[in-house]
Amino acid sequence: MPVSLPPALDPILPLLRCPSCGAALSPADGMLRCPRRHSFDVARHGYVGLLTGARATSGDDGPMARARRDFLAAGRYAPIRSAVAELAAEADLPGGLEGPATVVDVGCGTGYYLAGVLDALSGAIGLGLDTSAHALRVAAKAHARAAAATWDVFRPFPIESERVDVMLDVFAPRNPAEFHRVLRPGGVLVVVRPFGGHLAELRREVPQMVTVDPDKERRLHQALDPHFEMARTQEIEYTTPLTRQEAVDLVLMTPSARHVTEAELSDDGGLPDQVTVSVLATAYRRR
Ligand SMILES: C[S@@+](CC[C@H](N)C(=O)[O-])C[C@H]1O[C@@H](n2cnc3c(N)ncnc32)[C@H](O)[C@@H]1O
Ligand SMILES: [Zn+2]
Repeated sequence: MPVSLPPALDPILPLLRCPSCGAALSPADGMLRCPRRHSFDVARHGYVGLLTGARATSGDDGPMARARRDFLAAGRYAPIRSAVAELAAEADLPGGLEGPATVVDVGCGTGYYLAGVLDALSGAIGLGLDTSAHALRVAAKAHARAAAATWDVFRPFPIESERVDVMLDVFAPRNPAEFHRVLRPGGVLVVVRPFGGHLAELRREVPQMVTVDPDKERRLHQALDPHFEMARTQEIEYTTPLTRQEAVDLVLMTPSARHVTEAELSDDGGLPDQVTVSVLATAYRRR
């Protein structure tokens, strides 16, 4: 029986290229296929498996993706999502006859920020890329206009050159040369990263969580500078209350806390009931 493709995948197909040979992809028997018959499964959960062959070395496991989904659903990071949506609007978005604006979120996780940007940009279509199938199960359902696919940010993207209006990179690994290649002239890259005292109260209680590297800003600038110029930065800093479960999820979704177990956290009475959120969100314009 032919499997129908997720509706959000259809409008994004003109953007996609076969990861093996670069040709266009089209639907065939519930899969995507290129004219040379390279084929890519669409998982029952709605994301496309573009990353075939060698396994990626990083990506959230099931418990991390679940913790991220639950923590973000509580809305404690909503101010970050609003800032990202505002900065996305810095792009020169296409007019009515040029087709919908396109948003690609790399290391999209559960698709929380991609969904926020799609809500803010009416009619825009989105694609979330991540190595984690666990996260993509959630991302594939994050928004009616968002498709999701497995991909490793460190490989050439399966995306046609100069087709993307907004690239998002929120707490995720980066590939500046590929961001530049796939963005249209006038497109923007929005980068969110931790700053200063981000989650300081939690870091004090949970030594496995690494501190923010003070040299990170300089290295980020150095890596992006050949391809991008800074357009606008928002510093987002606030204190948010945390339930005990939210504090646990916030630790468990953090990659540096990969080896902390929920049981260890539950034994420890010291989790804070509020935490400082401090991040920088920058819109970079493509050079
Ligand atoms: C800290 S999480 C951020 C997720 C999401 N942007 C958010 O803020 O909710 C980092 C994400 O990057 C993904 N990731 C890790 N290595 C990756 C890689 N090489 N390529 C693509 N995604 C990767 C992880 O699976 C995870 O979903
Ligand atoms: Zn092919």
